[in-house]
Amino acid sequence: MAEPVLTIHGVTKHFGAVKALTDVDFTLERGEVHALCGENGAGKSTLMNIIAGVLQPSEGEIRIDGKAVRIASPAAAQSLGIGLVHQEIALCPDATVAENMFMAATNRRRTPFMNYRALERDAQAVMNRLAAIDVRRKVADLPISSQQLVEIAKALTLDCRVLILDEPTAALTETEAQQLFSIIRDLKANGISIIYISHRMAEIFSLCDRVTVFRDGRYVCTDRISDVTPDDVVRRMVGREITQLYPDKLGADEASGEKILEVDRIGDGARFQDVSFTLRKGEILGIGGLIGSGRTEIAEGICGLRSHTAGTVRLHGDTQKIRSYSDAVKAGIVYLSEDRKGSGVFLELSIAQNISVLDLKALTNPAGLLNRRAEAALAEEFARRLAVRMSGVDAPVKSLSGGNQQKVAIAKQLAVGPKVILMDEPTRGIDVGAKAEIHRLLRELARSGIGIVVISSEMSELLGLCDRVLVVREGRIAGELGEEEMTEEAVIRLASGLGTARAANHAA
Ligand SMILES: Nc1ncnc2c1ncn2[C@@H]1O[C@H](COP(=O)(O)OP(=O)(O)OP(=O)(O)O)[C@@H](O)[C@H]1O
Ligand SMILES: [Mg+2]
Repeated sequence: MAEPVLTIHGVTKHFGAVKALTDVDFTLERGEVHALCGENGAGKSTLMNIIAGVLQPSEGEIRIDGKAVRIASPAAAQSLGIGLVHQEIALCPDATVAENMFMAATNRRRTPFMNYRALERDAQAVMNRLAAIDVRRKVADLPISSQQLVEIAKALTLDCRVLILDEPTAALTETEAQQLFSIIRDLKANGISIIYISHRMAEIFSLCDRVTVFRDGRYVCTDRISDVTPDDVVRRMVGREITQLYPDKLGADEASGEKILEVDRIGDGARFQDVSFTLRKGEILGIGGLIGSGRTEIAEGICGLRSHTAGTVRLHGDTQKIRSYSDAVKAGIVYLSEDRKGSGVFLELSIAQNISVLDLKALTNPAGLLNRRAEAALAEEFARRLAVRMSGVDAPVKSLSGGNQQKVAIAKQLAVGPKVILMDEPTRGIDVGAKAEIHRLLRELARSGIGIVVISSEMSELLGLCDRVLVVREGRIAGELGEEEMTEEAVIRLASGLGTARAANHAA
């Protein structure tokens, strides 16, 4: 039998008192796509960072082609042919796409002179395989999904033998993801070995040859994909059966009809126009549509992050004057951004500080001093409800796994005690078990009278969680789907401008 390209044996990693990995094993064969699954905080990214030379293991051995190696730095990993697309986007926002892509490649080539034009041309050629993004554009001007593609393109410039993709599709559109899958299949056909991390079972089952499961920093098992089902994988990840994925919807007897939020013909004269909808007590309102359709801009318009020039927003019947985000928070409207790193959480601050930051007033005594004990208690409560895996609420958010950072971003909004929460892709990067937990919590909040609006690109979340779905297309509401009309096909038809199936039937 051929020697595996990569063998991990008995690797343990401590971060102070936290044991992120305990005695794990992992092997990667030549030309295989190998999925690594596990709950948030299971240790997936930690192991990838060790393989890519970002972190050093506390114990254990790494072998490449059977030879033991020490991967002392990311540059050392690159020269061994190992490339990593990090879970978190970490580009230089002020540099161009091409410059960001060169940074990795120049490390490797180490030529004294750089022919900028040629590099730009090379970068564009690599980028074209993924998407039509002009590599001369500044990264800061690109939406999150394009930034994610730049991260991937950057790794593709490295010509690696082992490519690690840590949740590469979390911020991609369906078409972009399909494009990435076809590239992965090409790489595999050329003998490149790929480690693929994702919380999306459908992707794993269509793309991967084998799957390894980690739980609580320990190795659980490795199987051929053809020998297991998605349910098997999930059961091994969480160590128990997950029976009900979505909570019960709003019952007919629970719908009071009381209006919480009324959005009346708002528009900003550019990205969205004539947007009207009403959010009623008890319901979870979904907003679907393609990425870039204007969903995020509408949410930003409602909560003062973007000015709207036309229309009104009423909360419990009262017209609101919202000119900034702090006006919105004061009125009781909060927004969970899709870009966790950019505006969701402060990575350097502690979990407790993050959770209390929007509501410092409630935690401050009359003399203006912050009550640290109250701050910690509030954080403890939310961290427990959302099952944040952490060493304590004093730990900095940057020490949490990606999915757990997302939970802190949600907790931060909930801690304000809002009247309405607009959530943009709330469960991105969150594992199946925690996701079901968050959905249950949202349903509970809706029942208690808080208005919940969920923007989601994940079809099953939109259809499984929400009571009603609005579909946005080119900055307008293309249609509304009630409980009985909500199907995947109906959402796609509206999102792509085909109208409803009913309208199509009428036309025929
Ligand atoms: N720099 C650090 N300092 C302290 N603890 C850390 C650090 N990096 C990771 N950890 C801890 O190690 C554990 C494993 O984290 P890791 O990021 O590997 O999880 P993951 O499996 O990638 O999860 P996710 O699906 O959420 O991305 C977590 O408990 C995390 O809090
Ligand atoms: Mg991770």
